[in-house]
Amino acid sequence: MSPEQIRRRLLAWYDAHARDLPWRVPPAAGQGGLRSDPYRVWLSEVMLQQTTVPHAAPYFLKFTARWPTVSDLAAAPDDEVMAAWAGLGYYARARNLLACARAVARDHGGVFPGTEAALRALPGLGPYTAAAVAAIAFDEATNVVDGNVERVMARLFAVETPLPAAKPELKALAGDLVREDRPGDWAQALMDLGATICRPKSPLCDRCPVTEACAGHATGAPETYPRKTAKASRPHRHGVAYILTRAETVALVRRPPKGLLGGMLGLPTSDWRAAPWSDAEARSAAPVQADWRSAGEVEHVFTHFSLTLRLLRAEGSADGVIWTDRRDLEALPSLFLKAARAGLSNLL
Ligand code: ADE
Repeated sequence: MSPEQIRRRLLAWYDAHARDLPWRVPPAAGQGGLRSDPYRVWLSEVMLQQTTVPHAAPYFLKFTARWPTVSDLAAAPDDEVMAAWAGLGYYARARNLLACARAVARDHGGVFPGTEAALRALPGLGPYTAAAVAAIAFDEATNVVDGNVERVMARLFAVETPLPAAKPELKALAGDLVREDRPGDWAQALMDLGATICRPKSPLCDRCPVTEACAGHATGAPETYPRKTAKASRPHRHGVAYILTRAETVALVRRPPKGLLGGMLGLPTSDWRAAPWSDAEARSAAPVQADWRSAGEVEHVFTHFSLTLRLLRAEGSADGVIWTDRRDLEALPSLFLKAARAGLSNLL
């Protein structure tokens, strides 16, 4: 199948099956000349770099209801934006998001610049996002490659090079299919195909518009692409989180600006280390003297390690903490929300 045939089939499939997403202009409206708002495209792309469409959608709706334009977001206090981001993870991205919004407001009069190169020059806006916003909001024929697109290319061309070494090759293959015609729809068609048909585990090849062109399908084992080098196993760490309560409030601390969960609110914790914490060690590392009782533990998986967090709970007081009503813990990152909920319900 020629590249032109592949494109025609995939765009026709997108016209019929494009997902209805809150930031998306449907393909028929796009061909009628309606363009997506660059602010909404940019915000959705940043959110989608770390999570799935169903998880990101409510955050997107919340952000755009509260901050309808990039200038509104630029004017928001850091803490409010970080709290609204809580649960999406990768908090450095939320800081980059604000830095970028403020640069657009300050240096560009609140209007996103309209080319990939100019977008790339904004602080905190990386190559993927610049390509995606330029294609989807400005119809520039950029090469938009995320994990979905890499997987589609690896299968379509049965690329034997394993990831991550295969990245440049997959990007070049994707680039060979980009044309001036409908670049935003093209990028989104590939992403939708990757998310709904050419899925990581069980691809639905019988519903794919380009199976006949797919070298991976022809091997009989398309799901084995992209090839991967054996992954180093994720290290495991242990820590203790302290749930100090005073009437209906819980003591929180603001984490240091740099590092994991930097700048976010959290429960006070011990260091996170390789060895488990004994009861005595956990108590002696507590931030204040109190009658600390075991309140279970929680497990959490981060990108680079997994964590067992023992929970100790006590009633007491402390200086320099942020007393927060136990019903208002939603602004905590997922790890701490999970730990607080478990610890508050499980006094052992
Ligand atoms: N994943 C990341 N960006 C996307 C988009 N614009 N459409 C669908 N899935 C996506």
